Order: sequence, then structure tokens, then C-alpha cells
Amino acid sequence: MILVTGATGKVGREAVEQLVALGRPVRALSRKPEEAALPEGVDVVAGSPADPDSLAVAFRGVAQALIVLSGDVAGEARNVAKAAAAAGVGHLVFLSSASVLHPLAHGIADEHRAAEEAITGSGAATTFLRPGPFHANTSWWIKTIRESSSVRDWVGNNPGAPIDEYDIAASAVAALTGDGHRGKAYVLTGGETLTSEEQARILGDVLGRELEFSVAPQEEVVEVFVGITGDRPAAVTNVAALHSPRVPWAKPTTAVRDLTGREPRGFGEWAAANAALFQ
Ligand SMILES: NC(=O)c1ccc[n+]([C@@H]2O[C@H](COP(=O)([O-])OP(=O)(O)OC[C@H]3O[C@@H](n4cnc5c(N)ncnc54)[C@H](OP(=O)(O)O)[C@@H]3O)[C@@H](O)[C@H]2O)c1
Repeated sequence: MILVTGATGKVGREAVEQLVALGRPVRALSRKPEEAALPEGVDVVAGSPADPDSLAVAFRGVAQALIVLSGDVAGEARNVAKAAAAAGVGHLVFLSSASVLHPLAHGIADEHRAAEEAITGSGAATTFLRPGPFHANTSWWIKTIRESSSVRDWVGNNPGAPIDEYDIAASAVAALTGDGHRGKAYVLTGGETLTSEEQARILGDVLGRELEFSVAPQEEVVEVFVGITGDRPAAVTNVAALHSPRVPWAKPTTAVRDLTGREPRGFGEWAAANAALFQ
């Protein structure tokens, strides 16, 4: 049995569908099983990585797991590690973040490093998937594209190689079902280097609309982050790291190809598949 946490989300849902298509028995963890709408045959159990009791139930009889977290990544990873160790799980594939390799100290990196450390402490074999920004992060632009055909970029306009959630899921499935991935860590990126402005142009072409593009200065983004988290020191370092040209996802890696045997999906494909969100 393979357990998937975060199973109704962007990466988890895709991974569940791919595992089911391969005929693998899958258990999915969701806070709202009745709304999960996962494929038939998936054993959907109630709970969350934030709830240790639900993890103890979810890990029963599980040999491997794909761990996707939300919110308090380090705290949830500690819960997962404890439950996985108690259940004697053999292999944990953890959706971490490329931020763990970032040269600038910041909270996002610290959280994911602490999470990787906790997962390692479970005693299971581990595979760490360390993606850079997801294609779906452009969903932040839905409101302003709909309302004013404009994009306000919050992460600087440096080149990076964003990745499709489909390819993260496919990499996770390859790590779970293939040989030689235990004890490994992979930096996952897409295959093309794009700035946010170039992503906005691709999206505009798909939508048939010209999108006005501007980059928010770091001070403006800090205020937005403080408004969400209330933590100003963390907001300052996180925004500086995201705006740095030295991000670890600045250039494409070969990890998706190495894991899945095919090229990663381009942003144009994501934009075409998700155009309705922006209309
Ligand atoms: N976005 C990026 O650029 C990026 C880059 C690198 C790494 N990551 C990592 O990717 C992970 C997220 O993956 P994802 O985007 O696939 O996940 P997601 O779609 O945001 O969420 C996954 C699931 O988590 C549950 N969930 C959502 N909010 C929650 C909350 N506040 N408390 C408890 N459960 C909650 C929901 O499931 P139920 O409602 O069914 O319980 C949701 O379907 C994070 O750990 C992040 O660090 C993201």
C-alpha cells in the first residue's frame, strides 16, 4: 500500500491518479474524504499531517508514502516521521523544496531543511524531491488578469525554470515505483528558462489578450507577506531570497528526464490547460 498525503492538492491528486493508472494500491489522506473526488479504488482516510492520531491510522499496513505537506512544514514532517517510524514504513518520498539549497538564509529554506531532517529521522529510506516554483504559482495572477488584464509580479523578474505539477507527480511516482532512488535527492525544474514577464506573455498569447506587466518592489511584497503571516523578519528574508538571481532553480536540471524518461512539460501547455481560470 502506498500512502499519499496532500492527496487532493496539485501534486498529490496527480500522483494518486498516476499510481492508480499503474495498478498500485493507494491510500489517500484528506481532511474531507467526502469531497476528495479521487479515482475509484483509492482508500481515502480522514486526517491531515497536522493531526498525529490520523497519521497513526493512515500509516497502518503502508510500505511506502509520498509526503506532501501544507502549512507548518517542519512540524507536520515531525508528525509524519514519528508515525512512519512507529508503523515501520520502508520508503518515504518527500516533496521538499529547492530552497534548501538557496545560498541566502531564509525561513522557507529553514523550514524545509528541518522537515528533511525530521523525515530522515524516521529511519525509513528517503527520496527528497526539491522542486523550484510550480507553473500553478501563476494562479496568483488570476484576479488581476480577470479584472484588469494586468500582472503584478511578486518574486522579482529573474530567469528561472518553473516546473509543472504533473512532472513533480510523475517524478514522485518514478521514485516510488522504480529502482535506485532511495537515499537520493533531486532538484526538479522545468526544461525552459523563463522570467515572470515571459510567463505572462505566454499566458497572454494563450488568452488572446495583451497583459500589462509590472514588478512589485521588495518593500511592497514584504508588506503583503506580513499581512498574511504577521512575521516581518521572516517576510524580509523570504522576499530577499525569492528576488535573488542566485535561486537554485535559475537553470533547468535534468532530474525530471532522468526520473521519468521524458522531457518536462512547458509552461505553454500548463497555460493552455488552465486558460479558463483566467477568463
Ligand atoms: N508552490 C511552489 O512553488 C512550491 C515550490 C517548492 C515546494 N513546494 C512545496 O509543495 C508543497 C505543497 O504541494 P501542493 O501545492 O501540491 O499542495 P496544495 O495543493 O497546496 O495542498 C495539498 C493539500 O493539503 C491540504 N491542505 C491545504 N491547506 C491546508 C492547511 N492549511 N492545513 C492542512 N491541510 C491543508 C489540502 O487537502 P485536504 O483539504 O484534502 O486535506 C490540499 O489539497 C508544500 O510543502 C510546499 O512547500 C511548493
